[in-house]
Amino acid sequence: MKLTKEEEKILSGAYGEAARLAMEILTRLGAAYGASEMATIQSAHVGAVYPHLLASVELVERFANLGGKFAIPTTTNPSHQPYNFNRWKEFPELISLQENATRLKNAVERLGVIPTYSCTPYFQGNLPRFGENISWMESSAICFANSVLGARTNRTTMGVDLAAAIAGRVPKFGLLLDENRIGNVLVRMEFQPKTMFDYGTCGYLVGKLCSGKIPVIENMPRHTTLNHLKRFGATAACEGGIALYHAVGITPEARTAREAFRGGKPEFEIKIGEEEVRKAVKEIDELSTFKDKQIDAVVMGCPHPTVEELKEIAQCLQGRKVRGNVKFCVFASSEMVNWSRQMGYVDIIEAAGADILEGDCILFCPTKEWGWKRVMTNSAKYAIILPSDPTWLDVWYADTKECVEVATTLE
Ligand code: F3S
Repeated sequence: MKLTKEEEKILSGAYGEAARLAMEILTRLGAAYGASEMATIQSAHVGAVYPHLLASVELVERFANLGGKFAIPTTTNPSHQPYNFNRWKEFPELISLQENATRLKNAVERLGVIPTYSCTPYFQGNLPRFGENISWMESSAICFANSVLGARTNRTTMGVDLAAAIAGRVPKFGLLLDENRIGNVLVRMEFQPKTMFDYGTCGYLVGKLCSGKIPVIENMPRHTTLNHLKRFGATAACEGGIALYHAVGITPEARTAREAFRGGKPEFEIKIGEEEVRKAVKEIDELSTFKDKQIDAVVMGCPHPTVEELKEIAQCLQGRKVRGNVKFCVFASSEMVNWSRQMGYVDIIEAAGADILEGDCILFCPTKEWGWKRVMTNSAKYAIILPSDPTWLDVWYADTKECVEVATTLE
């Protein structure tokens, strides 16, 4: 790889051992992917978040102990938060999990992270502009950054994300290159999604039918909001590993379909009409491994919700009470919780007996040890990943209203 003089200096250790190690990781990665040079990046989103994986804890600590500092604005994904522990009165925490979560938090904060602890960093001030090179982890955020914002990131993995944030560089390959951002599948949307559930279903279909491709979506409705795109991309990324899509007339690299295909032809075309959506709803329905009132918990907030979504949860919960044998958990960023508290939504949610877990993610909670077996969720992404490692829970996927209906009784 051709390195600049400055990059050679970093690699020689002139800026300390942490930066040297970071640059060594990045040059090796670049060589493996055939990159010819490094790209300077403007932001990073890292995942110092796996308290149940000791290697992950030790890697973050290693960089911090070597005196590493993030060279660019860097946010972090949700992590298991020590300040949430004492809110789980009925569910004792595992001591090892608490200790590891505390070690992770201390180490990543020593590296200089902006402590957002959210999987929607673009709503927490990490907002790259069109065309900027960045290094993000978190599949839903990566899809949003590439597609909705037009920034450029690969699906950065744990360890590489820290190295990139410290060096302020990533090897230039994959989605950082113009030629790898060209659309290659045409998706004709005949169905017009309206609700978040609809957008999740369309994202599921696009993920399933365009796995590993770059879909160009024609006729995405003009009323589509950022929240809709968040849900759409999160589900497409989870179901089919979609890291970039173009929505014609909506996303920055697709003012026209011709622009998205750069004058070329799609490899194949698919149609999303009423019939396809009806079948997808049935398939998604089959994601549910049970359907009766015997639930242990409801989980919402995957990805982390906006104020609008917290408002919807509050409206559904108003005048209701969560059944005594059910835990109702909403995972969210501190910022959205603070604003929602000022607007009265948090009081309503908590008065109904639900818990709001700030900066956290259910994937890191010891649900098995808590005895959870059957969980209901309004998140298609969560429903897809939930019955596998590390949770192995039975899942029932439904919209917010139905989740609330099953988990509560009227006051
Ligand atoms: Fe966010 Fe955790 Fe879901 S990181 S997208 S809440 S799995």
